[in-house]
Amino acid sequence: WPVFAPYVKAINDLKRERNAVILAHNYQTPEIYNCVADFVGDSLQLAREAAKVKADVIVQGGVHFMAETSKILSPEKTVLIPDMRAGCSLAQAITGEDVRLLRERYPGVPVVVYVNTSAEVKAESDICCTSSNALQVVESLGTDTVIFLPDQYLAKYVASQTKVKIIAWQGACEVHERFTGDELRVYRESDPSLQIIAHPECPPDVIAEADFTGSTAHMIDWVRNNKPKRVVMVTECSMADNVQAELPDIEFVRPCNLCPHMKRITLPKILESLVYMQEEVVVDPVIAENARRSVERMINLKN
Ligand code: 13P
Ligand code: SF4
Repeated sequence: WPVFAPYVKAINDLKRERNAVILAHNYQTPEIYNCVADFVGDSLQLAREAAKVKADVIVQGGVHFMAETSKILSPEKTVLIPDMRAGCSLAQAITGEDVRLLRERYPGVPVVVYVNTSAEVKAESDICCTSSNALQVVESLGTDTVIFLPDQYLAKYVASQTKVKIIAWQGACEVHERFTGDELRVYRESDPSLQIIAHPECPPDVIAEADFTGSTAHMIDWVRNNKPKRVVMVTECSMADNVQAELPDIEFVRPCNLCPHMKRITLPKILESLVYMQEEVVVDPVIAENARRSVERMINLKN
């Protein structure tokens, strides 16, 4: 990719100068994922890395709630996001005040919040979870009911796997809610050997069509381990692009959907971010302390 080469060199040089690392989510474009990221992963892996990475600066290749999570876990580091507008429809779906009202309505019921939330929402919760550990987190609480926020589809998926009663919210990921079971059935009918793997933010009729459901990292591991001939990754488009570079013999069949927020992060913006040390992500220290309790409680759960 000669067009990217000057950016890649400049970014990698500046990273050394600033003692910076780039933590990139699996939905980042291949040139970010392959050429400048120091660490790639799903939300849980990125949070674990942010908590232990040795650097002065973290540049988040991802969306705002991910950068906030890094800041919560590494308050002494400078955390930069190359575009402050990189949001998330799930993080937008609920506020701290909503959580306080739910607690009044369901006294004593623990609150599990998905990592795709603002620091303010995490600060109101008992424990955080990601798509890779949601079931484990829900069952770790030892109660017969939990409040699970804000993704209605992840909540339904967890509810289908456990006896714990789930009180859900109405949020949804704008990328995953657009897939339908009908469109997947059309693909499957044209090739019965086609493998379909889906993210648990998808609606139940999509998950019903899937041969495997898991977080982005678990989906990648599934493809690495099973090496299907043809596979649909029912998730954000960059996932297939990134795995394709590693596994060229596999045919990645569309559909996929783009996340407009993830796609706001580009090589030129990462470079600008490192040149000007912008935009810095700041979290109110009291909110950060309460949110950290919730995220660390998740991270400290035994695997
Ligand atoms: P994971 O990578 O944790 O599965 O999250 C998916 C996602 O939608 C992040 O925004
Ligand atoms: Fe949010 Fe969905 Fe985009 Fe992930 S893919 S950042 S959950 S809108």
